[in-house]
Amino acid sequence: MRRRFCADHPCGVIAFNNQPQVLDRVAALPRYVTAAPAPTADALLLASNESPYDPLPSVRQAVVEGSARLHRYPEMHSGELRAALAAGLHVGAEQIVAGTGSVGVLQQIVTAFAQHGDEVVYPWRSFEAYPILIGACGATAVPVPLTGAGEIDLAAMANAIGGSTKIVLLCLPNNPTGTLPPAEAVAGFVAAVPRHVLVVIDEAYLEFSGAGSLCLLRHGNVVVVRTFSKAYGLAGLRIGYAVTTVPIADALRQVFLPFGVTALAQSAALASLRAQDELDARVAAVIAERDRVHTRLCGHGWRVPRSHANFVWLAEPDRAARIGERLRANGVLARVFPGEGVRLTIGTPAMNDSALRVLLS
Ligand SMILES: Cc1ncc(COP(=O)(O)O)c(C=O)c1O
Repeated sequence: MRRRFCADHPCGVIAFNNQPQVLDRVAALPRYVTAAPAPTADALLLASNESPYDPLPSVRQAVVEGSARLHRYPEMHSGELRAALAAGLHVGAEQIVAGTGSVGVLQQIVTAFAQHGDEVVYPWRSFEAYPILIGACGATAVPVPLTGAGEIDLAAMANAIGGSTKIVLLCLPNNPTGTLPPAEAVAGFVAAVPRHVLVVIDEAYLEFSGAGSLCLLRHGNVVVVRTFSKAYGLAGLRIGYAVTTVPIADALRQVFLPFGVTALAQSAALASLRAQDELDARVAAVIAERDRVHTRLCGHGWRVPRSHANFVWLAEPDRAARIGERLRANGVLARVFPGEGVRLTIGTPAMNDSALRVLLS
């Protein structure tokens, strides 16, 4: 084995000319872009669709108590949490699969149902993890452009389903545009998808939209994916779940990263379900703020689709980078999609006022 010192690393990092080769399809994957680091400690973090509120005291307490058992593995399949969710959702506990955030659940789904030669149809622009998860398992990503109004184009998605399609993904409401097709249109779309194609409905922002797709489980080829990261404010603990049929749920459990959902995450999620009223009040406050921000922006000529989530989308392809810079220079971190637009998470009224001051000046 020949050895050389890498010129880029004068501090002595060694590169080998016959080092393991990363798969081409992995090297070609798009990178997940995280929010840029906050320039100052008091910057307003409105880039990642997180809850602006501190964790509830009862949820914190559950985590503190759970920390006494950090030397033990968690209960592998989150049985107590699944039972609590099942009771609330009126499904069987065996129909629920917990995962490391809903993105972990999405990874389980794609891993279990798509491989090289299969196609996965999804709207685009949408949640940026989709093409990464699809490409990572060797399947072919088939992005279907949104309409000019930032809406999921259900007709075009239906047309994109072909003989190689294994999965169709819907993001309801869509991230980053916040749009949501009418429930009847979604129901009609799902009814027309061939039964051998898995329909994945990502409801990460469900609580802000009031709508839900669980009734579509009756088709037998549907998985609804939800998270504790957004409305429940547990983004840092990484816990989400799928609701589906028992055979599909079993397949998702087979590809679950063993012990991936921590005991602290399970305890915090359970405590959150017990604090549903307090969380509902927080969600209602975010919805009221979202609609206030939307009205103010539209009143000043901004093009903002009506949002059904906890963010608004500034559809400004030409000015996106500049808007993001101006917000940042004024201490507001939003998520910029260069050449497409800017996604601004809804925060507390004071946070939103700060963002509005910049955008309306
Ligand atoms: C549409 C959508 N799905 C899934 C996720 C993943 O969330 P988590 O893994 O935190 O549950 C996100 C996160 O931003 C999202 O926007």
